[in-house]
Amino acid sequence: MSGIQDKVETKVGVLIVLSLVVVVWGGLAQIVPLFFQHSTTEPVDGLKPYTALQLEGRDIYIREGCVGCHSQMIRPFRAETERYGHYSVAGEFIYDRPFLWGSKRTGPDLHRVGGRYSDEWHRVHLINPRDVVPESIMPSYPWLEENALDSGDIQTKMTTLVVLGHPYSDAEIEAAPATLEGKTELDAVVAYLQSLGLHVKQRR
Ligand code: HEC
Repeated sequence: MSGIQDKVETKVGVLIVLSLVVVVWGGLAQIVPLFFQHSTTEPVDGLKPYTALQLEGRDIYIREGCVGCHSQMIRPFRAETERYGHYSVAGEFIYDRPFLWGSKRTGPDLHRVGGRYSDEWHRVHLINPRDVVPESIMPSYPWLEENALDSGDIQTKMTTLVVLGHPYSDAEIEAAPATLEGKTELDAVVAYLQSLGLHVKQRR
């Protein structure tokens, strides 16, 4: 063993400190540039913040635990892009707070499910998946159709998002409750699903 290696490897304290320095440096080198790159900090062309209805649908998606079975993150591998479309890019998630990338795919990835099926297909599928996909193991969510949308706090949600940088105008926030009138939770979830992943061109 060379002298210096000998010294480092036989003194536990020195080894721990030097290992930490290496790990911290490596971590910073990977993470810090992301705060300054346009591709990770700017929305992709045409990306708009969620409408009031989509925002409510997103919250119901979180409440119902859909993220436990569905990812929203298409990785840049051929098997994934052939099946789901263009891989996900950072600029598509600027208005996702919290992000719903998920880590479990009991069901398919949903990042580009917007526009893939009709609204009616989604409604039937969410009320009872087996009506459209006989072998499906996805749970049924029949109450979504029965529950009127609770729109009481939509303005508070939007105002909070404005603080975080979402460009909602005062007029949009003012008008939000009216756009939710008479809607069910099912309407909101379908509106949310139909908005997913439309802004990067599908490579099919
Ligand atoms: C226990 C796991 C599980 C949960 C929880 C779950 N799903 Fe699914 N989902 C599946 C499976 C499996 C499929 C594939 C079979 C099918 O289409 O029904 C699927 C399919 C889908 C599809 C069709 C995707 C495609 O590309 O064909 C949509 C949309 C969907 N789920 C939405 C939801 C929503 C919204 C929720 C929450 C309200 C939810 N899922 C909760 C397992 C789940």
